Amino acid sequence: MPDRKGLVAGNWKMNMRRADGIALAHAIAERAKEPHACELLVCPPATLIAAVGEALAGSGVALGGQDCHAAPAGAFTGCISAEMLKDAGCSHVIVGHSERRHTCGETDTDVRAKTLAAWRAGLVAIVCVGETRLEREAGGALAVVAAQLAGSLPDGATADKLVLAYEPVWAIGTGLTPTTADIAEMHAAIRARIPAGTRILYGGSVNPKNAAEILAHGEVDGALIGGASLKVEDFWAIGQACG
Ligand code: 13P
Repeated sequence: MPDRKGLVAGNWKMNMRRADGIALAHAIAERAKEPHACELLVCPPATLIAAVGEALAGSGVALGGQDCHAAPAGAFTGCISAEMLKDAGCSHVIVGHSERRHTCGETDTDVRAKTLAAWRAGLVAIVCVGETRLEREAGGALAVVAAQLAGSLPDGATADKLVLAYEPVWAIGTGLTPTTADIAEMHAAIRARIPAGTRILYGGSVNPKNAAEILAHGEVDGALIGGASLKVEDFWAIGQACG
């Protein structure tokens, strides 16, 4: 990954109560004192952002949100703006995760607006794309992802405020992963459509066993991890496999 520093991000999704989340964050901060070649990022649920931020303070591990609203403020019950995430100590926000695209009905247009909101607030947007199993089986994976990119990425993207995450929907939480060749093919197709130097993470059933092979490929700049990010040893092992 020439000129692109590795990034390993943990997406805790809707997991962790206060005590467990703080304990995990402290454990990650402790581990991060050891040498590591990649950047580390933790994206806890909104209820824990402040507490996890305190636990990570001074560790060099970055803090991110899992989603944001497109507007800076207003009458949007239950939503959180990118400005609020920034105010809470976040440097990154995940947008367009497939769990939001598929269970909350988010469209490419929504994701584009959220990406612009992230940039407006000074956050790095981690924009997620990925095909379903049926789309891959029909031979349409590259076209689906190309369309998601065309619809989700605003003009004005630069490598310092954008990260892409390729997360095939069928690989998330299933224990299934594409072949490294398939991941590399998709990353190369994505890379042709984004600014030079932008990092592309792979996400979907990354674990300590498969991380080294996936992350060794020059097209893969890091990982976005769900389940394995909830255990410090697994998260750390994947971080060690990166970069
Ligand atoms: P899993 O690692 O649990 O498959 O989740 C991946 C993911 O959705 C990260 O955003």
